[in-house]
Amino acid sequence: MIPLSEPFLGGNEWAYLKQCLDTNWVSSAGSFVEAFERIVATYSGAGHAVAVNSGTSALHLALLLARVQANELVLLPNLTFVATANAVRYVGAQPVLIDVRPDDWQMDLDLVEEFLDKSCELQEGSCMHLPSGKRVAALLPVHVLGGMADMDRLLAIAQRWQLPLIEDAAEAVGSRWKDQHAGTLGTLGCLSFNGNKIITTGGGGMLLCRDEDLARRARHLASQAKVPGSPYYHDCTGYNYRLPNLLAALGVAQMEQLDSLLRKRQQLATTYREQLPGVQFQKTHPFCRPNHWLTTIYTHRKEAILQFLQARHIQARSLWTPIKQLPMYQECLYISRENHSQHLFEHCLSLPSSASLTESDQLRVIEAIKAALLRFSA
Ligand SMILES: Cc1ncc(COP(=O)(O)O)c(C=O)c1O
Repeated sequence: MIPLSEPFLGGNEWAYLKQCLDTNWVSSAGSFVEAFERIVATYSGAGHAVAVNSGTSALHLALLLARVQANELVLLPNLTFVATANAVRYVGAQPVLIDVRPDDWQMDLDLVEEFLDKSCELQEGSCMHLPSGKRVAALLPVHVLGGMADMDRLLAIAQRWQLPLIEDAAEAVGSRWKDQHAGTLGTLGCLSFNGNKIITTGGGGMLLCRDEDLARRARHLASQAKVPGSPYYHDCTGYNYRLPNLLAALGVAQMEQLDSLLRKRQQLATTYREQLPGVQFQKTHPFCRPNHWLTTIYTHRKEAILQFLQARHIQARSLWTPIKQLPMYQECLYISRENHSQHLFEHCLSLPSSASLTESDQLRVIEAIKAALLRFSA
């Protein structure tokens, strides 16, 4: 089977893991945790990076740190992995789902502005949604498939409406807006290192921020809110979200290879585009340098091509079922004109994009897609 996106463990992973085992530092303390945080903070230019055990826990912490409260509203795209919406629910808040754009598949900022302009008002520094009487507490854009939402415009909207901007950059490790790394432009940013991402720690995430106090509070919340040096005194409800040293060791080894892994994904994306003329791919904003996490096509023959590829042992994948369609989110407010999220869900297909994909295997994928297109467009 040619996988969609598999880990590439071609560097110092064994050596660093062995170091953890040899020294007995396998759990949530140890030098690799700090080293991983430092390397990610430096690479991204974030200022501060707090290692956690998943991208989802990074999102949960970000919403807590942004002081999003129960029954408040958080704006996020309707087309994303479910973790984005789940994290909003973890703090008791309500997602307001925004449709995505038909070209770059990112949250539609025209709809965000229309929602804010038409139904919200700034009252004593709070953005109030007038029909529900609820406070809009944060903007939570997602950098879908490693492309990026228009950050200049989002920052302007966040400033005008005095809203914290939390970037779900789980899929965007290595993506940049102009020269700034995804997840470092807003108030807080969240990365994921789960198994199918550009780099992986098996499971893990990172919270990025500029503000030292936010980083300190994130570390505190992630370690059960234990007051340091105290006899198990905890000053609020905390979480067990720390990243074990073993996984941080993998993270350091993976970060050392990140630039070459990004080059490889870029190369794959270029080859797909060159070899499949006439096929429609995800567009990117001219200011965005994407990480090409998953090269994804738009096609009217999605299901047929998916099955055709599967029969040839090639793994391809649909985008996520839109959040609005999931049973626990059907009651959410959905801001949309043409429901592009649904349309893209029905028509988009992510192609094998692993850094380990060989030239000949990529050629096999390309030939299979060409054959499928020929067969099913007839
Ligand atoms: C957009 C998005 N947000 C959040 C997550 C959650 O990250 P994790 O799986 O590390 O919890 C993922 C991916 O897994 C994701 O794709």
